[in-house]
Amino acid sequence: MAFEMVGVVGLGTMGAGIAEVFARAGLRVIGVEADADALARGRGHLERSTQRAVDRGRLDGPGRDRILGLITLTTSREDLRDADLAVEAIPEILDHKIGLFRDLDRICKPQTVLATNTSSLPVTALAAATGRPGRVVGMHFFNPAPVMKLVEVVGTVVTDDGLPAEIAELAARLGKTPVTVGDRAGFVVNRLLLPYLNHAAVLLEQCVAGRDDIDAAMTRGAGLPMGPFQLLDLIGLDTAYEVMGVLFDETRDRRHAPAPLLRELVAARLLGRKTGRGFHGDEPMRREPEKSSVITFGVDGPDPAGIGERLRAAGFKSSDEPDVILRAADRPVIEHAVQLRDPAKLVGVRVVGDRVAELAATILTSPEAARCARDLMKVIGLTPVACRDRAGFVTDALLYPYLNDAVRMYESGYASIGDIDTAMRLGCGYPAGPFETLETIGLAVVRDGLRALYAEYREPAYAPAPLLDQLVTAGVRAFPRP
Ligand code: CAA
Repeated sequence: MAFEMVGVVGLGTMGAGIAEVFARAGLRVIGVEADADALARGRGHLERSTQRAVDRGRLDGPGRDRILGLITLTTSREDLRDADLAVEAIPEILDHKIGLFRDLDRICKPQTVLATNTSSLPVTALAAATGRPGRVVGMHFFNPAPVMKLVEVVGTVVTDDGLPAEIAELAARLGKTPVTVGDRAGFVVNRLLLPYLNHAAVLLEQCVAGRDDIDAAMTRGAGLPMGPFQLLDLIGLDTAYEVMGVLFDETRDRRHAPAPLLRELVAARLLGRKTGRGFHGDEPMRREPEKSSVITFGVDGPDPAGIGERLRAAGFKSSDEPDVILRAADRPVIEHAVQLRDPAKLVGVRVVGDRVAELAATILTSPEAARCARDLMKVIGLTPVACRDRAGFVTDALLYPYLNDAVRMYESGYASIGDIDTAMRLGCGYPAGPFETLETIGLAVVRDGLRALYAEYREPAYAPAPLLDQLVTAGVRAFPRP
């Protein structure tokens, strides 16, 4: 089917981005909003986004005018009668979406494809609400839609044969890479991403580490484009909360229960970028704590990252009566601390990617020793990430369960290794997909890290996925790919 005229219903951040994507590819777009105010906000999104591209030299004035000229804005759904495709991007409330699909089914010509940009609601339920279930699909874009290259194309058990392939072709025409999957809550990306974001909120709530430390661990340490709290603010905390709720309802996995902190922020209307404040926002700039003028240090045990040498090269002195004792560790250090004459001075150090130093303070570590450790790491060019003395510290505690979830997803037959890797790279801007990351870190390292997390938290989902365990046992270092 030739898709030339497309309707987009809902012109919030996602809907406006989707309308822009279609218009950039030369399709005519009818953008629909509920009332004049919402329409004006939608127009504002479109104008700002295209102006931003002009400001960056990615688009010229006539190019912007051509894009905006292809988009007609209206408050009447009836204007969609001639659309070849209608994509909805209204808030994640199933009853509202069902009502909209019934309307679209009545208004649009019989061959029009009805698509939902839902993040997690069942596409099948929307299909069943219409008289054309075979013509209903999921077409899931990622925020910011003009930038992120992935589109998840979701077919249901009643979708016409061949329609997902046609929608995938359309996505390619938009300059996107499609990944075609079945109708499961969260599809590929949100099923893997949102539990990780939720877990970050839980770690924050449990005071394992602070907001900026967690964001720094995942950007500078793990190399992700945004920290979990920066990303939650981009996605919108209300959307994240809704998606977690849907995931939990489907899986009953307690890790999918939305973090209470998310609920509190949503109830306070601190929704992230869209309301100006979420995890990040209005707060005053944090003042850097005063640096201690003289710090002496000791190193306890082996020092694979050469911290002692780097500190001495920077002019710091090791001492028998140090201000802080540093111990290289990839697991909790409390057992070592209690063997020392002064356990209050011990801080565990784990260098991640030679950019971040995770600094694990035990229940006995003094605030002074923790502060000295932070200052010392900055001097040798490492970003300090202060955390409690817990299995996995911050980076591994967040990364390994996500990697494990990806292996379980593949094991369940839902998506291929290649599709999962592509989805996470292009949907979230990750430098590598989970299987590529697993192979880089080493399957055995991740398996053992998961075992340590499991032993500490007794969380069933942290038990290594059987496939991961078996590959390690068999001495295999890569996942089987066709
Ligand atoms: N709208 C339009 N364009 C935008 C934009 C926006 N909101 N934000 C950034 N851009 C564009 C910029 O104009 C720039 O384009 P050019 O290279 O053509 O000039 C490009 O994106 C890069 O932007 P910046 O240099 O300003 O910033 P950056 O390098 O820090 O990248 C980012 C910004 C692309 C957002 C990057 O940080 C990233 O990939 N973050 C991860 C985002 C992510 O994970 N999205 C998925 C969320 S999950 C989801 O959406 C699904 C769901 O259902 C909840």
